[in-house]
Amino acid sequence: MKELLKIINERRSSRMPFDMGKEVPEKDLLQVLEAARWTPTAHNMQNFEIIVVNSKKQLEAIAGIKRGISEAFVRENYNYLSFSEEELKKKKMGIMGTMFPKSWQNPNFKLSDLGKEPDSAQRPVPSAPVLMFVIYDSGKRAPASEGDFLGIMSLGCVMQNMWLMAHSLGLGVQILSSLASEDSVVELRKILKFKLPWKIGFVIRMGYPSAKQQPYLRVRKDIKDFVHYNYFENRSND
Ligand SMILES: Cc1cc2nc3c(=O)[nH]c(=O)nc-3n(C[C@H](O)[C@H](O)[C@H](O)COP(=O)(O)O)c2cc1C
Repeated sequence: MKELLKIINERRSSRMPFDMGKEVPEKDLLQVLEAARWTPTAHNMQNFEIIVVNSKKQLEAIAGIKRGISEAFVRENYNYLSFSEEELKKKKMGIMGTMFPKSWQNPNFKLSDLGKEPDSAQRPVPSAPVLMFVIYDSGKRAPASEGDFLGIMSLGCVMQNMWLMAHSLGLGVQILSSLASEDSVVELRKILKFKLPWKIGFVIRMGYPSAKQQPYLRVRKDIKDFVHYNYFENRSND
C-alpha cells in the first residue's frame, strides 16, 4: 500500500475518456464498495446506498440523458475560473477556465448564448464502464442536524473513501454533479427505478483512462493560508 499522503495527493479528477473495452474487475469494484462500507458517518447512521451501473443497456440509457445547465450555475462557476496557469498559481484555488466551453468563460453568460455553441448546451454524459450512484434517504437526518448537514457531510466522507480507494487501484474517477440536477434526476429515477425519499448524493464515473492522463495544474492553498493557532487572528504556531 502506498503511503497515504501520496495517495491523497495524487488522487485527481479524470475528466477524460475511459477505455470502454476494459471492464473494472469485480474484485476492484468490491474494494471500492468496501471502502464505502467503512466510511465514518454521523451517529454511524450509514445513510447511503449505492447503485452500481455496469450493464451496457443501463449505461446506454443513462448516456442518453440531457445534462441541462442553469444560468446561475455558469455565472457562479465563473467565480472559480482562472485563465492562465500564472493566475491559477497565484489564486491557489479554483480551476482553469479553458476546460469549459467558450460561452462559460463569460461572466455575463446568458442561457441564450448556448445556442451559438451547440456542444455546451446539452453536454452528453461522458462514457464510463462503471457509474456509481450514491443515494441517501432524504426522509431521515442525523439527529437534530439542521438541513441534515451532518448526514450530507457523511456522504462527502463516502465520496472520499471511494475515490481514494479507486485511485489506489489505478482507476480514474470523475464526479458528475450535473447528473444530480433536477432534470437529469427525473430521467434517472425512471432508468434506475428509485423513488423518493431516495435522492442522489453524488455520482461517480469510474474506469481506466484510455490515454495516459495528461498532467494538469492542480493548486491548493498553503497550510499557512487556512490554519489558525489557538485563536482566529493568530496564523503562526510560535
Ligand atoms: C462535491 C464535489 C462535486 C464535484 N463535482 C464535479 C463535477 O461535477 N465535475 C467534475 O469534473 N469534477 C467535480 N468535482 C471535482 C472537483 O472539481 C475537483 O476535485 C477539484 O477541482 C480539485 O481537482 P482534483 O480533483 O484534480 O484535485 C467535484 C468534487 C466534489 C468534492
